[in-house]
Amino acid sequence: PVPYSLLIRNCGQLLTLAGGPTDRPLTGAALTDWQVLTDAFVACEGERIVAVGPMAALDEAKVTAETVVVDAGGRVVMPGLVECHTHLVFAGNRAQEFQRKLQGESYLDILASGGGILSTVRATRAASEAELLANALRHLEGFRRYGITTLEAKSGYGLDKDTELRLVRVAREAGRRQPVRVVPTFLGAHVVPPEYKGRGAAYLDFLATEVLPELRGEAEFVDIFCEEGAFSVPDSRRYLARARELGFGLKIHAEQLHDLGGSAMAAELGAVSVDHCDYLNAADAGRIAAAGATVAVLLPLVPLFLRQSTYAPGRQLIEQGVPVALSTDFNPGSCPSKNLWLALSVACLKMGFTLKEAVAAVTLNAAWALNRAAEIGSLVVGKRADMLVLDLRDYQEIPYWLGENPVQQVIIGGQAQQD
Ligand code: NIG
Ligand code: FE
Repeated sequence: PVPYSLLIRNCGQLLTLAGGPTDRPLTGAALTDWQVLTDAFVACEGERIVAVGPMAALDEAKVTAETVVVDAGGRVVMPGLVECHTHLVFAGNRAQEFQRKLQGESYLDILASGGGILSTVRATRAASEAELLANALRHLEGFRRYGITTLEAKSGYGLDKDTELRLVRVAREAGRRQPVRVVPTFLGAHVVPPEYKGRGAAYLDFLATEVLPELRGEAEFVDIFCEEGAFSVPDSRRYLARARELGFGLKIHAEQLHDLGGSAMAAELGAVSVDHCDYLNAADAGRIAAAGATVAVLLPLVPLFLRQSTYAPGRQLIEQGVPVALSTDFNPGSCPSKNLWLALSVACLKMGFTLKEAVAAVTLNAAWALNRAAEIGSLVVGKRADMLVLDLRDYQEIPYWLGENPVQQVIIGGQAQQD
């Protein structure tokens, strides 16, 4: 027999995320119906999972001197976290602006005064490619320690052709230089750059004609920030429709601060995800549920960090049959945290997620939000062996140790990471 290259044995609880539908994201009861095995193992050949089951069913003949054996010692083992919404590549920080916010200025006021996203744009345009890459690699290492094994990375702090192409290039290069897999998204339509002030539609037209054609094969998704002070729903619709014609998957930042209707519009265009959704209304949630495959990516650390009291209506979305995922939204303005475990806890505290819903939302449904669910997000035979050993004996402790990192061991593509 072919020996296992890696075996995790003695998993006290193995959160497989298996057992639900495989052709669409988990919704409703399927978010909680997935399987937990006790006293179990996972075995791999190379980068793939080849066997999962109770310890009693382990084929010891395939455990040889060549097998790397990880003894979980009765701890919790689960799929690697999928971080499906980050603004990974940028320069500088906005600690100063955070002080303004603490004194009462709002996110959109700071943006309208030329700060916010635009201040990160100035820092990012001025940075060298090497510096941007070094920043991205440092952040990716932080994500890896939190157990993130796949991460989406948006551009969006260049807002001109050269810088935006550079940001996508840096994201791809960062993915090649370390083990966490990086999925690049083009967010050139983040806000209107100073060069196009008052001419948002013309800027989108420029992106669609001059920039998107050069990104085919480089960025997988095209995203836009649909909000007051950014882009309107009709302009967003036209832009996303053009991106779709060029073959890109679609994402949108919508209903973050106002209920404009961008989420339902994007779902009806076939977007893979609609992100933020803090102000989403029930009728539009129904339209997203009806669209069938669009995941609502909720970002609970953002209202926390922006000092807002309105959180996305997670419980209601789940009850309406909307597929939900969770992410940090890591970026220098609205969430400088990489702690997806904290986001998971806050989703339980402020959005009404249950334990199993929250775990599904950072694994399998987050994989759906990146169109990667056939490859990652659950521990089933044939998928990539991206797995975590947590230093916990009961997965109820996951949302409980608020802000702590429960990760003891990270395995990416069947390789046990060294630190
Ligand atoms: O997802 N809302 C728009 N974009 C980011 C924030 C970017 C920034 O403030 O730098 C977000 O929250
Ligand atoms: Fe974002």
